[in-house]
Amino acid sequence: MSPSRTIRIFDTTLRDGEQSPGASMNLTEKMEVAQALVQLGVDVIEAGFPIASPGDFESVREIATAVRGATVCGLARCSDADIDRAWEALRHAERPRIHVFLATSAIHREFKLRMTEDEIVARAVAGVKRARSVCGDVEFSPEDAARTEIDFLCRVVEAVIDAGATTVNIPDTVGYATPLQMHHVIKSLVERVRGVERAVISVHCHDDLGLAVANSLAAVEAGAGQVECTINGIGERAGNCSLEEVVMALRTRRDHYACDTRIVTQRLVPTSRLVANITGIQVPRNKAIVGRNAFAHEAGIHQDGMLKERRTYEIMRPEDVGLERTDLVLGKHSGRAALADRAKALGYALTPEQLQSLFERFKTLADRKKEIYDGDIAALCESQFAELPEQFTFERYVLSSTSGAAPTVELQVRQSGAPQSVTVTAGDGPIDGIFLAIEKLTGITTVCRDFRVQAVTVGKDAQAEVTVELEHAGQVQRGRGVSTDSLEASAKAFLAAINRLALGAPPRLHPQRP
Ligand code: KIV
Ligand code: ZN
Repeated sequence: MSPSRTIRIFDTTLRDGEQSPGASMNLTEKMEVAQALVQLGVDVIEAGFPIASPGDFESVREIATAVRGATVCGLARCSDADIDRAWEALRHAERPRIHVFLATSAIHREFKLRMTEDEIVARAVAGVKRARSVCGDVEFSPEDAARTEIDFLCRVVEAVIDAGATTVNIPDTVGYATPLQMHHVIKSLVERVRGVERAVISVHCHDDLGLAVANSLAAVEAGAGQVECTINGIGERAGNCSLEEVVMALRTRRDHYACDTRIVTQRLVPTSRLVANITGIQVPRNKAIVGRNAFAHEAGIHQDGMLKERRTYEIMRPEDVGLERTDLVLGKHSGRAALADRAKALGYALTPEQLQSLFERFKTLADRKKEIYDGDIAALCESQFAELPEQFTFERYVLSSTSGAAPTVELQVRQSGAPQSVTVTAGDGPIDGIFLAIEKLTGITTVCRDFRVQAVTVGKDAQAEVTVELEHAGQVQRGRGVSTDSLEASAKAFLAAINRLALGAPPRLHPQRP
């Protein structure tokens, strides 16, 4: 076997991932994700597109200033204004990188840019040179490279390396490539471009045909030294190459790829959960590596095999991706130390006060639910620590409902500690009635843009996790609630979003993409 290469992992959750419809994050949330990415061990964090909006600029600057231990990158078109703005945001980074891009495919040249091949080469070179005049680490991406004529692509890549690009990234912008084709593109660059050894060749695949991970792995086999990817594969349209999948494929099939990464794989599941909670984009149950069913064995034959020797049906160990082997962990007789231990194993470092508060909530849950799973504990930790101080706190509801008639809801909340209640008879059903009662009591009328319910774990007494996205006066906020009672979870989620609206929590960013 050839000696192993270390593949750089370039995470673009905060830039391409944030371009997923509905995935916008505020500054605090972006900072939390950036710190989690550092702990995960990514080499490069693409923090945003500084010229896209003042919010994007601010978050790239804050992340660049705060992050230590990873390169922080900002995106720019090949224009002086974009590059100068990117550098302004990045200049305080420990390891800054400017990422400039320009489309190269015939369809983009002709219809979008209306530029000739010579003009494209000249602008790409000028962009790289300007970026290099301020920053020693410059990446260039020929957008839509996978649909670019290979001769022209080689010409562009050679020119930008000569101009000083230290990484050249090959995007399959529209997710059109196939693994063999991607392999051919990268191999051609490695074999034909003079000076290719002076730059790292990277790959950036979109998942429109479900091939992003396969295409990225094919690129690695052909010689790519960097993979661009996102947590949970979120991103523009069908998303990007999923970080957890590509990393675990390289690790699990090291015999084949002979490549390593610097990723601390035990942080994959906690990071995936964090991004899912912050963006509200939940991970499908059957998603490889981080889906809830990824290590669940249902069939009797499989369970029998697993008990005899787990490698019969498991190619990876759940603990290697941050999942604990034991599913059933705690119950109402479990103590504080066991809970602290469990939370720690799941990736939550708690202060003594946080542990005390978690323990109280755990006991309340244990009274309602016999078996407490890891997912329940993660949900308790996340709902508790990701929230802002609450102005309105849910107390209880009393509901009387008959199908076909408007329900009557009596709702009790605490407003800054003082009890408040309201009764309404309105709505299309119990959940709508509860939401209308909350709006009446808080005086905040909203448009509900998204509402989702899912079970946290399994069984009839599983906790329901509800996420809502509400709009009020031009602000959009998300809220999350967890309870064994799905109506209570809905009320908590709605109130959490109302609290953010009422407290004027940093608005979620909706950047204007150039
Ligand atoms: O998909 C793409 O082409 C991109 C580039 C900006 C790298 O995201
Ligand atoms: Zn992209």
